[in-house]
Amino acid sequence: MPEKPWYHEAVFFQLNVRAYVDSDGDGNGDFRGAITKLDYIRSLGVDCIWIQPMYMSPWRDGGYDIADYTDIHPDFGTIDDFHDFLDAAHERGLRVVIDLVMNHCSDQHPWFQAARALPNSLYRDYFVWSDTPHKYEGARIIFLDVESSNWTYDEIAGQYFWHRFYSHQPDLNYDNPDVHEEMFRIVRFWLNMGIDGFRADAVPYLYEREGTNCENLPETHAFLKKLRAMMDREYPGRVLIAEANQWPHDLLPYFGDGDEFQVCFHFPIMPRLYMALKAADKTPIVNILADTPPIPAGTQWMTFLRNHDELTLEMVTPEERQWMWANYAAEPRARLNLGIRRRLLPLLEGDKRRWLALNALFLSLLGTPIVYYGDEIGMGDNIWLDDRDGVRTPMQWAAAPHAGFTTGDKTYLPVIEQAPYDYRQVNVAAQENDPDSYLAWMRFLVAARQSQPSLRSGAREWVETGDVAVLAYWRRGAGEPVLCIFNLSDSVRPAGIAPEQDMRDLLSREGRVYPAGQAIALAPYAALWLVGAGA
Ligand code: GLC
Repeated sequence: MPEKPWYHEAVFFQLNVRAYVDSDGDGNGDFRGAITKLDYIRSLGVDCIWIQPMYMSPWRDGGYDIADYTDIHPDFGTIDDFHDFLDAAHERGLRVVIDLVMNHCSDQHPWFQAARALPNSLYRDYFVWSDTPHKYEGARIIFLDVESSNWTYDEIAGQYFWHRFYSHQPDLNYDNPDVHEEMFRIVRFWLNMGIDGFRADAVPYLYEREGTNCENLPETHAFLKKLRAMMDREYPGRVLIAEANQWPHDLLPYFGDGDEFQVCFHFPIMPRLYMALKAADKTPIVNILADTPPIPAGTQWMTFLRNHDELTLEMVTPEERQWMWANYAAEPRARLNLGIRRRLLPLLEGDKRRWLALNALFLSLLGTPIVYYGDEIGMGDNIWLDDRDGVRTPMQWAAAPHAGFTTGDKTYLPVIEQAPYDYRQVNVAAQENDPDSYLAWMRFLVAARQSQPSLRSGAREWVETGDVAVLAYWRRGAGEPVLCIFNLSDSVRPAGIAPEQDMRDLLSREGRVYPAGQAIALAPYAALWLVGAGA
């Protein structure tokens, strides 16, 4: 049997370097700081770190507005610092993938500066221009709360330019082969440095065609396959992860025949985990998984509960979206675009039982899970900050000034000071030695998953429980089969299951055993991962 690719069973961690640790007192996290926390990241039991954009940027979209693709933002340090971080991560057995923003750059990028100023410059054709804003009208607007069109008139250029995101983020023109070459040059630059792959940002939107919604076009897939082929040829073993916020049947083509992305985020499952938990009804989870097609050998889904963006509600029906807003974002300020700008624990009203159940569900369900920094200690948010900043605040290390994030006297965003998520209560130092803390539980959950090959990559087999509030499935693969059972409700429920043999709960620290033949009763929001007691 060929060895499984490393990303197939990994657990990922999402790192925002600016938010992590500040080593030089300027109020911004940096690579030198992050190096000092690699042991902490490793202690979570994860295998790979995804680093959010660290490129030179005017920082008007969290760094997704890149002004130089081969340089590091000075707030984060230097290329050498990045290199040291990479080496230090690799020394600890941690892989590192970085963000790759191909769809657009910053309007401050020299390409755009030349393009707008010099109509005859070869850079003009790096972007998508038009004399009228009435082209590609089938394309939706993504940043609905701030943008009213995908076209913006540029006074200097005397034409409109195309942008799927902010109007300071002009889309690159993939009809121009020079743009392909530029991207390949950038990709090689970072792969040569030794990174393990990319999380490719906003990939559905690379091409535009009249009469379509300008998403998932065949030309886009053709380019992505060309990129993958180059990487396989020149850098075998590196990974490409797709951020394509799409329905499962539109996601499938991003795997190609195993020749496009090795990993795709499974966007539609995410809101349905929250829906099921709130409604005490597993149906949304079961249905979306029924709609999820099998994927090519060697490829994998990536799942997440939260990330640096709003909790996106693009992949739900309008009725479901209203329901999610009503149930998870009653305060209008918590809503943003088609989503919710809150972190994990506040979404769950600070309920540790729900936090445990949802994490256990997500870590056992399918694919490769990714944990967002701070959610492992139950960090809070601040919906009153701008845009998505409220879920990007400084990591809370200690009850020290500025949460131990910096030794300086300022921070790039305010630390969370409001109860009950106040950094003086919620911080790593306080949780480090508390066996019942969020942090301890996160380490325990990840370790439990990592210890079971079936959970990492086994097939899923539904178990009928006779109760919509009780979700159960077997994961079967190499090693012991694991029976996962979740009570999605806040009442005691019979699981509708009596094990055929004595079974031990991997999620019970005391190693609780459920005897053969006895019906299992579930506490509110109980999560069980059962293996044969002899195992
Ligand atoms: C992706 C990123 C988001 C960014 C957008 C535009 O969706 O996750 O943070 O704003 O792309 O680059």
